[in-house]
Amino acid sequence: MTEKRIIEVREDFPILRQLVHGKPLTYLDNAATTQKPRTVIDALVKYYSEFNSNIHRGVHELSQRATGAYEDSREKMRLFVNARSETEIIFVRGATEAINLVAQSYGNSVLGAGDEVIISGMEHHANIVPWQLVCEARGARLRVIRLTERGELDLDHFESLLSPRTKLVSIVHASNAIGTVNPVKHVIARAHASGVPVLIDGAQAVAHFETDVRDLDCDFYVLSGHKLYGPTGIGVLYGKKELLERMPPYQGGGDMIRSVTFEKSVYNELPYKFEAGTPHIEGVIGLGAALDYLQGIGWPLIVEHERDLLQYALARLREVPGLRFIADPCERVGVLSFMLDDIHPHDIGTVLDQEGIAIRAGHHCAQPVLERFGVNATARASLALYNTRGEIDRLIDALLMVREVFT
Ligand code: ALA
Repeated sequence: MTEKRIIEVREDFPILRQLVHGKPLTYLDNAATTQKPRTVIDALVKYYSEFNSNIHRGVHELSQRATGAYEDSREKMRLFVNARSETEIIFVRGATEAINLVAQSYGNSVLGAGDEVIISGMEHHANIVPWQLVCEARGARLRVIRLTERGELDLDHFESLLSPRTKLVSIVHASNAIGTVNPVKHVIARAHASGVPVLIDGAQAVAHFETDVRDLDCDFYVLSGHKLYGPTGIGVLYGKKELLERMPPYQGGGDMIRSVTFEKSVYNELPYKFEAGTPHIEGVIGLGAALDYLQGIGWPLIVEHERDLLQYALARLREVPGLRFIADPCERVGVLSFMLDDIHPHDIGTVLDQEGIAIRAGHHCAQPVLERFGVNATARASLALYNTRGEIDRLIDALLMVREVFT
C-alpha cells in the first residue's frame, strides 16, 4: 500500500523521470537538497507570470496579491512548526543565515568576555563558524559536547559544560553527516533549568518528522526551504517573541523600519524588523507550496515509509563486503555515511554517477565530526520520501561493482 503510494508520489517530481548517463536517475543526495514537486515549480511560474510585484509597498492589485501570497506562506510555516504567532516566523536565506542572524544579533548583545556558547561535536560548519566569529569578537569561548562511539551526544559531558558562564546552547536536531537525531527536548529542558536559551538547527530534521517548537520549547529553530522540497535561497528563523523583541536588527534597509531620519531610525515591528530589503518573494511563495504539498501527503505516510526504507537500506548496506558505517546512532534519519574498503569516497561517487546514482562524497560541510571518526571524507546516501527499495537495490548493485573496479 505504502510502496504503491510512493510510486504515485514520484510522479509529482518531474526531475525524477529522467535518465542520467542512460540509466534511470536514482537520487540519493537529499541531505544536500531535495527535489521539488510540480506544485512548487508551478507556484514559482504562476508568481512570475501572473502577479510578480514587490510586497508591503504597493497599493496596486499585483502588489496586494504578492503580499497576500507571501504572508499566507508565513501562516503556513507558523502552522508547520506550531509557533504561537506568525510574528515569530522570520524569512531568511536559509538555516545558515538564520544562525548568523542569531549569532550576530542575540550573541553579540549577550556575550561578554569569558562567557560561553555550547555546541556539539556533530555540527555543520554553519553551526560552528558563526559562533566562532561572535565569540572571537566578544572574547567568549566555544565549548563542544563530545560524541560517543555511536555518534550520539555525550549527555554527561553536556551537563558538565553547563555553567553560569553559558549564554547559549546551539545544537543540531538531525546530523547531516551521520544522521543522528538528538534528544533535543531533553537538552532544552536541561539548559532551561540553568536559565540558558537553546537554538536548534533543524535543517536536516524538518523533512523527516513533525516539528513542534512549542512542544520542544526551543528558543530558536532554524530551517532551510530547499531541504524541505521547497526552493533554494529561502529559510526560516523561528524565535520566541520575547527574545526576538529584545534583539537588535541584523541588517538595516527598507521594510525593517518604521521611520528614518539622519539622526535616528525607528525599527519596524516583528517579523519585519529582521527582513530588510526586498525579500525572496518567490522563494517564500514556493516554500508555502512545499508545505501544502507535504500536508497533502501527511506525516504518517512520510514517517512510515522513511522508517521502512532506512531499515531496508541499513540491512542491505551491511551485506556489502568491506562497507563500514561512520557512527551507528540509535535514533537516526536516512543519512547513511560510509566507507568502502579503502576506496576514496570521490571515486565511489564518480562510479555511482555513471550508473545514474547521485550521492554526496566529501566532508559534508561537517569536518570536525568526520575527524572525530578518523576520516576526512565519506560516501553519503541520503533518503527522501520519494525513494524506493528498488533504488536501494540499485545502489547495492553499483557498490558491488565499485568493489570490482577498485579491488
Ligand atoms: N549541508 C548540505 C549537505 O549536507 C549541503 O550536503
